Amino acid sequence: EQIEKGGYEHFMLKEIHEQPEAIRDTYRGRLLANEGIIRMAGIDDNIEKFTQADKITIVACGTSWHAGLVAEYIFEDLARIPVEVEYASEFRYRNPVITNKDVVIAISQSGETADTLAAIKLAKQNGAFVFGVCNVVGSSIARETHAGAYTHAGPEIGVASTKAFTTQITVLTLIALKLAKVKGNMSNSDFHHHLQELELIPEKIEKALKADAHIQIVAKQYKDAKNSLYLGRGYNFPVALEGALKLKEISYIHAEGYPAAEMKHGPIALIDEQMPVYVIAVNNPHYGKVVSNIEEIKSRSGKIIGIVTEGDEEVKELADHVIEVPNTLESLTPLLTTIPLQLLSYHIAVMLDRNVDQPRNLAKSVTVE
Ligand code: G6P
Repeated sequence: EQIEKGGYEHFMLKEIHEQPEAIRDTYRGRLLANEGIIRMAGIDDNIEKFTQADKITIVACGTSWHAGLVAEYIFEDLARIPVEVEYASEFRYRNPVITNKDVVIAISQSGETADTLAAIKLAKQNGAFVFGVCNVVGSSIARETHAGAYTHAGPEIGVASTKAFTTQITVLTLIALKLAKVKGNMSNSDFHHHLQELELIPEKIEKALKADAHIQIVAKQYKDAKNSLYLGRGYNFPVALEGALKLKEISYIHAEGYPAAEMKHGPIALIDEQMPVYVIAVNNPHYGKVVSNIEEIKSRSGKIIGIVTEGDEEVKELADHVIEVPNTLESLTPLLTTIPLQLLSYHIAVMLDRNVDQPRNLAKSVTVE
C-alpha cells in the first residue's frame, strides 16, 4: 500500500496532487487547442441529439452531483441549452417529465452508484438519450448508457473524491464548448481562447498546489471550529458546496455551502467570532457583490478566509487570510478554486487524526439504495 501511495501519506493527498496529470489525461486527444478543435467520439456521433434536445437533465450523487451543478452554469452560459441537475435518488422516484426529446447525462466516478443506475434506466424507459460521464471503464453505468465519455482520471482510492471531480468538470466543459461552437453561440476567437485557457489549467493547478504550506497554517487555525460556512457565487457556488462536503466527509466538522447572496436569508444568524467563513472571491462579474458579502461577515466578527485571484488587493484588506489561485476565464475558475479547499479539508482531517482515506460511515461507491 505504501508503494501505491507513491510517497504520499494518504491516497487523498496523492490524488489531489495527481490532478494536473489527470486533467491532461482527460483532454489528451480531445482538446486540440492549436487547431481549434474538440474531438469526442461520444458527442460527435450523437451531435444532433444534443443540439436538438429540449433540455439536458443531469443526474448524479454526492461530489458527482456538484460537478453536474458546475456543468449547468457552463452549458447554459456557453451552449445556451437549458439544464436541470437532479439528485439521482430524487429523480428516480419523482415521476420526472422526460421524453424522447431529452438528453440525460449521468455522472459517476465509480459507474456503480445504485441510484444513478436506476435513474438511467428510468430515463431510457421514457425515451431519452442517455450519456454517461464515468471514470471506471466498463462499469455498469458505462455499459447502461447509450454513449459516453470517460474521465480517464485513473483509480481514485480515497473515499473523498478529488481528481474525479475536476476531471468530470473537464469532460463537461469540453462538451459544453463543443456544443456552443456547433450551435454557433461562440465566436471563433472566443472558442479558441477557451481552448487555450483550458489547456493551461493543469499548470495553473500546479501553481495553486504550491500554496500548501500556507494552507496548513490556515488549517491549524480553524481545525477546532464546530461549524464552517462556505460561500461562492455563480460558477463557484457549486465549489462552495463541494468545499463544505469535503470538510464534513473527512474531518466530521459540520459545514454548509451556500450561494453568497443567500447568506442573509439564514446562515448570517450563525456568524460570530467562532465561525470560519471560506469565501470564494475570484475575479469575475460578481466580485464586487462578494466583497459586500465579506463586509457583512466582517461586521459580525466572522473569520474570513478568501479564495482569491493572484494579486487581489481588496479582499486581502478585509479577510483574515487569503489563499491565491491563478487567474483564468470565469467558466474555468472551479477547476482552480476547488484545489485549496481540498487541501484545507485534508490538512484539518490529518490534524484531527481522522481516517482520511476511509472516513467513518462512508463508502467509495454506494451500490445499495
Ligand atoms: C459516495 C462517495 C462520493 C461520491 C458519491 C457518488 O458517496 O463517497 O465520493 O461522490 O458516492 O459516487 P459516484 O461513483 O457515482 O460518482
